[in-house]
Amino acid sequence: MKKLKIAVLPGDGIGPEIIEQGLKITMAICKKFDYELSYEYGIVGACAIDAVGEPYPKKTHDLCMDSDAVLFGAIGDPKYDNNPSAKVRPEQGLLKMRKDLGLYANIRPVTTFQSLIHKSPLRADLVDGADFMCIRELTGGMYFGRPQGRSEDGNTAYDTCVYTREEVERILHLAYKYAAKRNKKVTIVDKANVLATSRLWRQIGQEIAPQYPDIETEFMFVDNAAMRIIQWPKSFDVLVTENLFGDILTDEASVITGSLGMLPSASIGIHTSVFEPIHGSYPQAAGKNIANPLATILSAALMFEYAFGMMNEGALIREAVAASMEAGIVTEDIANNGKAYSTTEVGEWIVNYIVNK
Ligand code: IPM
Ligand code: MN
Repeated sequence: MKKLKIAVLPGDGIGPEIIEQGLKITMAICKKFDYELSYEYGIVGACAIDAVGEPYPKKTHDLCMDSDAVLFGAIGDPKYDNNPSAKVRPEQGLLKMRKDLGLYANIRPVTTFQSLIHKSPLRADLVDGADFMCIRELTGGMYFGRPQGRSEDGNTAYDTCVYTREEVERILHLAYKYAAKRNKKVTIVDKANVLATSRLWRQIGQEIAPQYPDIETEFMFVDNAAMRIIQWPKSFDVLVTENLFGDILTDEASVITGSLGMLPSASIGIHTSVFEPIHGSYPQAAGKNIANPLATILSAALMFEYAFGMMNEGALIREAVAASMEAGIVTEDIANNGKAYSTTEVGEWIVNYIVNK
């Protein structure tokens, strides 16, 4: 019997509630396909600061390193957001986790759901059928470049953006690998008209592109890309970019489909990979059993596909999610004038679908 070992990190806010559903679905799939699942919980984020004084404790890191995949909820707590002088912050835990696990590529598929298109801030004809994948470099660039800090008098601050050839090559090859399985187009987003790091990205992109003659390569400045995402989202297939640009563009890309509560993500790592919904910890809804668990459940689908190469298992989860939406078994954020169901009811319905399929 195949054994799967996962680390479960619920995190803060609605994290524990949505993760519980993601885990239930993971268990149902393992039972159905006859895999032996073992899982263990770890703490991360504000709850870890409260418990042990640091947001990504070594114990959690060891657990992740020792697991085949990590299912992650969300981190963040309002008590830190408006306190720029807090010494330890939940976000530091996330950055440390990315660096220590070598999570170099954050993948966010942007897909439309027919029943949610009316929620898009864009005209329906612009988003209907949009389907692309953002790949954000996650362990380099300005987020991690040193030096970073303040001058002695405190009146000057600086960040440093650093990229090495190895980092850029690794992520561009990954982008081409995914594009080969999709619609065979890669858009490399940079700011090569201003930044040295971007010129390195573009140079390496020009070197690598001819190695993939079946795939169209497009270079685009980030300001132009920000515009194109809202003007013509259907023109993208795989969009790849550096860390900070990717942070900004993926938030933009995630809302155009009107389904923020539906979008999963995968962070591909050297040591292990992490699967999490892209929405945040939504503290206002915490503990109310109203949060939409579908992005987490779809993250579990990505986990089966990306971490374990189990495509049928991922497909069954997706089918179950689509069925729950068709049946109107959804939380209040996406209920179309119909009855809204609780987080746990949606999770249970999907488990039943999988069990009875
Ligand atoms: C994200 C988040 C993080 C980031 C924050 C919480 C540090 O915005 O995952 O996109 O900026 O990377
Ligand atoms: Mn972000």
